[in-house]
Amino acid sequence: MVHGELKIYPDAKELSVAAAERIAASLQAMLQEKENPTLALTGGKTPEAVYELLGSSPYVDLIDWKRLHILVGDERSVPADSPDSNFGMAWRSLLSKLRMPHNRLHRMRGELDAEQAALLYEQDIQKLFPGPGVPSFDLVLLGMGADGHVASLFPGTEWDEERLVVANRVPSTGASRISMTLRLLNHAEEILFLVAGPKKAEALADVLENPGCTLPAARIQPVKGNLTWMVDRAAAALLRKGV
Ligand code: 6PG
Repeated sequence: MVHGELKIYPDAKELSVAAAERIAASLQAMLQEKENPTLALTGGKTPEAVYELLGSSPYVDLIDWKRLHILVGDERSVPADSPDSNFGMAWRSLLSKLRMPHNRLHRMRGELDAEQAALLYEQDIQKLFPGPGVPSFDLVLLGMGADGHVASLFPGTEWDEERLVVANRVPSTGASRISMTLRLLNHAEEILFLVAGPKKAEALADVLENPGCTLPAARIQPVKGNLTWMVDRAAAALLRKGV
C-alpha cells in the first residue's frame, strides 16, 4: 500500500538528477501562482547531491529563488557552522549560491536550548502565516531514516502534535533535536520523500506496504496535498514487484 506516488530510479545519482528536476519544476509552477512560495528543506546526506545540482546551472539561474521563503524541517542542536548542522549543509550546497535576502532564510537556532529554538521557530512560522489554521507550506522535502524516522520524529519518542515545532531526542544517542511536527508537515501542498540506499529497504517496505505500520514516516499522509516517494532501486529492493 503506497501513500501517494512511488517513483523508483536505478541509483542515487539518477534519483538526485530526477529530484532536482522535479523540485525545480514544482518551484517554477509555484512562482507562477504565488508571490512568495515556501520551501522546507530536509537534512541528512541524501539531499546534498540534489542541493548541489539546484545550486548549479541551469537551476541556480532558472528559478527566482529570492522570492521564496526557505525553511528546514528539522535541525540538530548544534551551531550552524557545525558539520552536523542541516542548515549548514544546505548553506554550503545550495543557499550560499542563491544570493537570497537573509530574512527569507529561516534557520532553526540549533545553538539554543531545543525547546527555546522550537518556540522561536513556531513564532517565525506564524509570522509567515498570520491568522488561524495550520500553516501550509508549498513544497516540503523529506528523508527517511533506516528506522523509519522522518525529520527528527523518531520511533519510540513522544512529542506534542498540537505544536508546529517541537524539541525531541535521538533515542540511540540522546542527542537533542528540533523538528516540525507531523501536523505541520502534513498540511503541505506537496511533499517529496527522497530515499536512497539498501539500509532503507526494510523500513520503506514496511511504510509503503504494511497498512498497520506506525513508523513516523508512515504517518506522513498529506491532509490535502500530494505525496511522491522518489527512491532508488536499492531502497526499493524489498517492495513487492510491480508496486
Ligand atoms: C536529519 C534529517 C533526517 C534525515 C534522515 C535520512 O536531520 O538527519 O532531517 O530526517 O532525512 O535521517 O538521512 P540520510 O539522508 O542521511 O539517510
